[in-house]
Amino acid sequence: MNVDWRALARLRATFLDGTAGAKDYWHSESDLDSYDQTFGQRIRWKWDYVLAELQRRHWSPPAGSVLDWGCGTGVASRAFLHHFGNADRVVLADRSPLAMRFAAQKLGGTSVWLEAKPGPATVMLLSHVLTELAPSVLAELLALVRQATAVVWVEPGTFAVSRQLIALREQLRGEFQLVAPCPHQRGCGLLAAGNERHWCHFFAPSPPKVFTHSDWARFGKLAGIDLRSLPVSYLVLDKRPVPSAEPVRALGRARVYKAHALVLECVPNGVRERRVTKRESPDLFRRLKKNKIP
Ligand SMILES: C[S@@+](CC[C@H](N)C(=O)[O-])C[C@H]1O[C@@H](n2cnc3c(N)ncnc32)[C@H](O)[C@@H]1O
Repeated sequence: MNVDWRALARLRATFLDGTAGAKDYWHSESDLDSYDQTFGQRIRWKWDYVLAELQRRHWSPPAGSVLDWGCGTGVASRAFLHHFGNADRVVLADRSPLAMRFAAQKLGGTSVWLEAKPGPATVMLLSHVLTELAPSVLAELLALVRQATAVVWVEPGTFAVSRQLIALREQLRGEFQLVAPCPHQRGCGLLAAGNERHWCHFFAPSPPKVFTHSDWARFGKLAGIDLRSLPVSYLVLDKRPVPSAEPVRALGRARVYKAHALVLECVPNGVRERRVTKRESPDLFRRLKKNKIP
């Protein structure tokens, strides 16, 4: 990695102190490059996880234009084109002209438009933008989302952001089919009484190099994150009929005890806790134990 560690520390502070929405924080191409190799790379692994699931489920995007809104360095559109091939037109939108130019360069030969205030597109990609949007900006963004045929929205797997995404799911589900991660089209089971402390999140895999490379160790320390863990919340919407989903979806990580584990499962009639015992299901218990992060 050839990164500007001071710039990364500044970006991290901006992301954490709640000021990221207030003003453009991309000062130079070097900021963007450093982000792209670190924060952005981790986001790319989340996109790869989500898009691989969509491919496994035989979902494919509608033909037409793709809009990467709040594109930053363009991680989302790069991942999307990598998984689903070229689009008729890719629009990169960000309040930062520097970021749009950087993202366009990274995309290379694709036909790319840079638009600070974009119009509607067939497919909308949204990645790690929710924490930075004032309510008025979110309202404008939702107007665009409503005009898309399909939307792939990937966010951090934190409690607060997941709960925001669930609220958006509820606003949009009358107009779109829910492709993922939901196993049903009904109201979100996490909104039922008793589930207030849970949130909808999953863990994307981190490649082995993050455990062995000293720069990744340094980044983990600087960012204050556990590199083994790549929590992600996401929502995929489509106005077309969608492939059927798995009927059961495990949320988050199992809580593993000495002889049993508790797994939170989302099923068509709600969210339930399943008890897996070592005695009755030794293989599953072992797998759950292996995935546990202390
Ligand atoms: C955390 S970055 C995420 C960048 C990229 N989507 C990713 O996942 O790596 C958030 C991006 O949203 C952009 N942004 C924030 N507020 C915006 C606004 N009101 N309009 C357009 N872009 C905005 C920022 O400039 C930044 O590039």
